[in-house]
Amino acid sequence: MSVEKEMTAGRNDIGNYSTKPNLQNDLFDNIIGYEDIKKLFFLSFESQRPIHILLVGPPASAKTLFMLGCMKLERSYFTLGTHSTRSGMVDYLFEKRPRFLIVDEIEHMSIRDQTVLLSLMETGIIAETKFMKTRNTQLKTWVFATANGTNHLLTPLLSRFMVLHFKQYKFENFLDVSIHMLGRDGIAKDIANQIADQVWHKMKSKDIRDCIKIAHLAKTKDDVNFIVETLLRYGKISNSTDDKKQS
Ligand SMILES: Nc1ncnc2c1ncn2[C@@H]1O[C@H](COP(=O)(O)OP(=O)(O)OP(=O)(O)O)[C@@H](O)[C@H]1O
Ligand SMILES: [Mg+2]
Repeated sequence: MSVEKEMTAGRNDIGNYSTKPNLQNDLFDNIIGYEDIKKLFFLSFESQRPIHILLVGPPASAKTLFMLGCMKLERSYFTLGTHSTRSGMVDYLFEKRPRFLIVDEIEHMSIRDQTVLLSLMETGIIAETKFMKTRNTQLKTWVFATANGTNHLLTPLLSRFMVLHFKQYKFENFLDVSIHMLGRDGIAKDIANQIADQVWHKMKSKDIRDCIKIAHLAKTKDDVNFIVETLLRYGKISNSTDDKKQS
């Protein structure tokens, strides 16, 4: 059966939809920077044929934010690599026929589950044999995914993706993103600036989540100093059994 016929056959299950996604251009508005990546996603959404995108990068580099943006697309289905199960995902694919399959942290997906994606991404075909019965169908599904690294991914799966490697932020990007983000939470610019500066230079952290944690506690610059000093005093597993073994 052709893809178009299959999609028509599935129409009752998922309500009316057009073959083109209903694109809102504010999908990624909460993401600071990455204008080129945003453009690439839009090109992929509008492409006649599925173009699968994998974002690989360090923690807190906005990968999941991109997936959350894609979730706003009609007929999208979100799953976590850790939680997806072969039967759950296959059932969903058969029943709902999603146009966009979004897999956050795909490196945690079992090899068995990754093999389901191989055929979906290459030909759109999914097949399953259960209780001696075989069912198969063909979908037109774009797969968008994230990973911290690619070591646990099947090589043929990787080759089906357009892989984009996010770099660790430099201090200027880190400062910019932190000030924007904390500003949205109502944190004054000078305090946001101080938090980002201390997280980067004193705590030697490149994780924007550290700025957010501190910002949620601090009301003044003195609070920021106090929190950072306390974190430094109690940080870095100095009391752990690992350290004791070494000393
Ligand atoms: N460019 C950015 N624009 C807006 N927020 C950002 C940006 N970069 C990081 N953040 C913020 O950093 C935090 C982590 O972002 P996100 O969850 O998307 O990271 P991630 O790349 O998926 O990290 P992980 O690999 O740990 O899952 C969020 O609070 C997010 O708002
Ligand atoms: Mg993430």
